[in-house]
Formats: sequence, structure tokens, C-alpha cells
Amino acid sequence: MKRAARLTRRSAAHPGSAARAGGADNLHDAHKALAAIVDGASDAVISINGDGLITLFNPAAERIFGHPAALMLGGPMDRLLPVAVRAGHPALISRFAQSGVTQRSMGVGRVQGLRADGRMLELEASISQAVANGQVALTAILRDVTERVAQERLIETARDELAQLNRRLLEQEKQTSRKLAQGLHDELGQTLAALRLHWEAYRGAPGAQRAGMDERITSLVVQANRQIRSVLSDLRPPLLDELGLAAALDNEIRQHHVEKDAAEVGLQTSAEARSQRWSADVEYATFMIAREALINALSHAAAHHIGVRLSGNAAGLELRVEDDGIGMATDTHVGRPGHLGLIGMRERAHAIGAALRIDGALGHGTTITLSWAQEACDAGEAPCAASRRPEGVPREGT
Ligand SMILES: Nc1ncnc2c1ncn2[C@@H]1O[C@H](COP(=O)(O)OP(=O)(O)OP(=O)(O)O)[C@@H](O)[C@H]1O
Ligand SMILES: [Mg+2]
Repeated sequence: MKRAARLTRRSAAHPGSAARAGGADNLHDAHKALAAIVDGASDAVISINGDGLITLFNPAAERIFGHPAALMLGGPMDRLLPVAVRAGHPALISRFAQSGVTQRSMGVGRVQGLRADGRMLELEASISQAVANGQVALTAILRDVTERVAQERLIETARDELAQLNRRLLEQEKQTSRKLAQGLHDELGQTLAALRLHWEAYRGAPGAQRAGMDERITSLVVQANRQIRSVLSDLRPPLLDELGLAAALDNEIRQHHVEKDAAEVGLQTSAEARSQRWSADVEYATFMIAREALINALSHAAAHHIGVRLSGNAAGLELRVEDDGIGMATDTHVGRPGHLGLIGMRERAHAIGAALRIDGALGHGTTITLSWAQEACDAGEAPCAASRRPEGVPREGT
């Protein structure tokens, strides 16, 4: 209301004849109405005079910038501007004042401001100028779009990450197909061709010459079987379908032990988790998350000990991969540009309706926790992939 009073006082300061008094009354009312509009506006309205000093700072400006009008009126705009643009601001203003243009958008329709608490503001802004009593007054109308801009940036980042992830998945699919084709053609194909030759030779050979040939045929059959298994294990994590998550994790950890013995890796599984089977989607996602977390801990953490823990039952499961290594800075928890492991882990968790948490800080190790609950899927609270194990899928020991 202070600003309304200022406008009103100025306009009432020049009384004249009765006619002029009537005109002055009208002007006075118009000023009052204008002041009420400015005070009630949800956008910041800030005016400066020809000397660059603030003459109007409405309540929305107080709320958006966090400065009281009493502090701002009569002073320069500096504290509302990011430090980097302060020096160039007077030149911009005087260029606009001399341009003769009455109204235009500021920046490319958006400028940055500085709040009293140091936070950066994103503002949609337009500026106008008017001359009254020979004095130029420049007025900026500023809308706070900080939240919206932050959301837009998040969406853009998520979109970029998904596009990258998609590219990686396509690349992996290409590599898998190439490997599969190679495995089938170069290995299995050769073995089967040799098997056919040996079998034909065996069939055509007189009984006395068959000795030893049957052994060679048996060994080729064993070799073909091994090659099929090797191709299959590239397509699905070994043991996951046959024996379940706990066994597949155990197998995975053993393989890393052989490859890299710098860190000691331990697996703890509850008895319930060892006999429990979850849907193929949930088991596969959990396995792949564990694999990435394990590889990350082995590659980045310089840990002495890495613990993998699996617990759960039909109602849900929890996987924890914990290391005592160098830890991660909290701003890395969302992932690093161009690195897709953590982002992929989140995507996999999201796809089965599970929650993924990353705990730890620099120097304090890292813990990745995946929590999945059947209930959330049943209640439709989460975007779950097929979360029930289809009928007829064998459990361990059946
Ligand atoms: N257990 C860990 N301990 C310490 N730092 C880690 C750990 N896990 C991840 N990091 C850090 O987080 C970063 C991001 O991990 P992320 O898995 O997303 O990518 P990456 O492993 O570098 O590459 P890739 O895309 O092949 O997975 C890593 O580069 C590493 O700096
Ligand atoms: Mg990784």
C-alpha cells in the first residue's frame, strides 16, 4: 500500500481551477486504481528513474526478490542482479532509454535475477518506458519462472539420459547378435559339421574300424552342448532361470573373484531368499542391478570389502551392495554425464516398481539398496512389469 500512497500523493500535488480540479480528481482516481493494480499484481513491477534509482518496488517484487521495498526504494538495482551482469547493466538501460522504443521483452524473454538469500531467479521479463513531467521512468515487469525452468531442465536431462541409455541398449543388442551369430556359425556350426562327418564315417565303417570313432562322436556332442550353454549364458545370466537369484548372484560373485582379487566380495542370503522365486522380470532386474553395483564397486571404490546381501520372501525383496571404499560425492548419486550405469540401475528399478537408494559420501563407502514390494505392484502404486511368477514355473527343487 505504501507504493499506492506515493503515486497518489504525487498526482494530487498540482491543484488548479475547478475544471482542472475535476480533471485532477479523475487523475487522482486513476492513479489510485493503477497503484492498487500494481500492488495486487502477482508479477514483480519495478520502476527506475533516469538516474537508475528505484522508484517503485511492488509487494510481488518484495516476495520474489526477498528484499523489503523500504530497503530498495531510492537505491540502485545492483542487489537484484547476478554479479556477472551488474557492470554492464547501466549501459543496457541507457541504450533502451535512448532507443525511443516504449516496450519490449528483456533478454530473450527471460533474464536472471538474484534473491536476497543468494538463490538465482529465472524471470520472464518485459521493460517499458514512459516520460512524465520531463522525467524518464523505466518499468520492468518480471514473472518468477524459476520452478518451471528447473522442471524443464530436469525433463530435458532425463530425456537426454534416456536417449543415451537407448543408444547403449541398441549397441548392446547389436553386439549380442554379432556374438550370437559368431558363436553359432564359427563354433557350434563347425562342431556339428565335424559331428556329421564322423557319424557318416562311423555308419559306413566296418565294425572293426569303429573302435574309437564312437568316443570322438561322444566328445563332439559334449562340445556342442557346452557351446550352446555358452551362447545361452550370454543371453541370460547363468543359473538365473534354472536356480534363481541367490544362485545366480553366487555364481556372478565367484566369477569376479577369479577376475579381480583386490577386494574381498561376500554374499549373504537369507534361507527364505534362497528358496524364493520371484517373477522373471523382478529377478532379472535385480540381478542386473547387483551386477552393475558390483562392477562399480570393483572398478571405482578401491574397497577392501564388498558385501552383497539378498533377503526377502513372496511379499518382496531387498538387495544391498555395500562397499567400504572411497565413496561417492552426493552430486554423483544421480549419475555422471556420459556414464550410464547408475541411470540404467534407476531405470531397471523403476520398470519393476522398486525403489533404489544410494547412500554414502566421499570417504565413507557406498551402499546401493533396492527394495521391491509385491504389494505396491498389486495396489497399482508402481509401474510394475510382470511381477507374478507365471503358473507352472518350477521352484527350486521341483
Ligand atoms: N561404489 C562406488 N564407489 C565410488 N564411486 C562410485 C561407485 N559407484 C559409482 N561410482 C562413481 O559414479 C560414477 C558413475 O557410475 P556409473 O555406473 O553411472 O558410470 P561408470 O561406471 O563410470 O560407467 P558405465 O557407464 O560403464 O557404468 C562412476 O564413474 C564413479 O565415479
Ligand atoms: Mg558403472
